[in-house]
Amino acid sequence: MAAKVKKAFFCKNCGFEAPKWLGRCPSCGEWNSFTEEIIARESGSAAASIANVPLSKPQRVSEIREGDRRRLDLGNSEINRVLGGGLVAGSLVLLGGEPGIGKSTLSLQIALSPNGLRTLYVSGEESAEQIKLRASRIGIGNEECIVYTETLLENIISQIEEQRPDIVIIDSIQTMYTDLIDSSAGSVSQIRECAATLLKYAKSTGTSIFIIGHITKDGTIAGPKILEHIVDVVLQFEGDGNNIYRILRGIKNRFGATFEIGVFEMLDNGLRCVDNPSEILLTHYDEPLSGIAVGASVDGIRPYLIEVQALVSNAAYGTPQRNATGYDSRRMNMLLAILEKRVGMKMFTKDVFLNFAGGFRVQDTGLDMAIVAAVISSYYDRPINTGICCAGEIGLSGEVRPAPRTEQRIAEAARLGFRKIVVSGYMAKPSKSVKGIEIIRINNIAQLPKALFAEE
Ligand code: TYD
Ligand code: MG
Repeated sequence: MAAKVKKAFFCKNCGFEAPKWLGRCPSCGEWNSFTEEIIARESGSAAASIANVPLSKPQRVSEIREGDRRRLDLGNSEINRVLGGGLVAGSLVLLGGEPGIGKSTLSLQIALSPNGLRTLYVSGEESAEQIKLRASRIGIGNEECIVYTETLLENIISQIEEQRPDIVIIDSIQTMYTDLIDSSAGSVSQIRECAATLLKYAKSTGTSIFIIGHITKDGTIAGPKILEHIVDVVLQFEGDGNNIYRILRGIKNRFGATFEIGVFEMLDNGLRCVDNPSEILLTHYDEPLSGIAVGASVDGIRPYLIEVQALVSNAAYGTPQRNATGYDSRRMNMLLAILEKRVGMKMFTKDVFLNFAGGFRVQDTGLDMAIVAAVISSYYDRPINTGICCAGEIGLSGEVRPAPRTEQRIAEAARLGFRKIVVSGYMAKPSKSVKGIEIIRINNIAQLPKALFAEE
């Protein structure tokens, strides 16, 4: 019997389905993103074919039982932190990142850590021997880690039912396919159907599932938007390929806040949790160098200190070069324009390069003052006094505004042995003084050089 072939066009960016090819996606506005896929559905969608899905009933909000949401300790402090205090039982988590960044390593490490959880690691990308090799490097701390190399979703579901794990890891969603759809693995319809099936399974059984998804060059996971709204939590694993540091960022979290980050270091034996990011982001130089400033930053609720490096040199050509690594170059240009206008520095004749320690990407506007300090230091070729750090946002008139959570930044600077911190004079006086650190308050950026270079 010839199967009834049904075709449809999908937007590769957002998964929008249309009966004919469209030049521009009416849903996400992306151009030229439609591809044709064969979808031969049998009875309904794959999600509907899972048996034993309990029917839910409408109920009063006051009568809904709480406490169903158990949080599982994964045995990894950084991942627990990003998930908002552990993995919620029955949740579907998408872990995205570029190929080679360490997604498989991170997820295998969760499976192998001695957390007392039975984990099924499903790989469609590597052979069992390859996984064993990696597992030996990481160290096997959990005998309850089961490895299964398979790509057909129906087989995976039946194995999950047989093994009854607490956690399932799907590495990666782009290699999985279901028999109910004819299109190839990695296509929009396959990804959507597989994720929907896994979601149903997770919700009906309370099994937590990690889905690994590759991100394409332009920063989106193939078929990502479809996954992003299906899943409960979206985590992004990022880092500079040349650097050993990796950041796990919460993009969406139905069970907690999304502003937390986890910091890891990629070593020979897997990823090490960096509990204290300042330790890797500050360098101890033998002699003071110009163009280096330290900023006190906050990501999530965790403060850390980070080194900013700037190089200001005479522009060889008409248009000066401006280059920022790990930072929004428009914001850098704005800060340089403020220095030009409010402090009278001749930035229009200078090339400026900006860099952050550890290949970190930062967005915190509270680092404005540290960036400006590094630029001033390099411009005058004068090292900033040792033991000083900065925390403040800079406005267009050159005014220094208080950075969010300044008190935490001050406390972190004091903890790391800094003697002075420059903050906004407009900040309310801290409720309690912090021991061992002098707080210098300035209202305008023009007062910054004096604070940085004062004779002691
Ligand atoms: P991997 O987890 O395979 O990346 P992804 O699944 O995101 O594609 O990570 C691959 C890189 O990590 C590889 O270049 C080697 C490196 N690595 C280490 O440095 N140390 C280790 O212990 C492991 C297992 C991998
Ligand atoms: Mg991988």
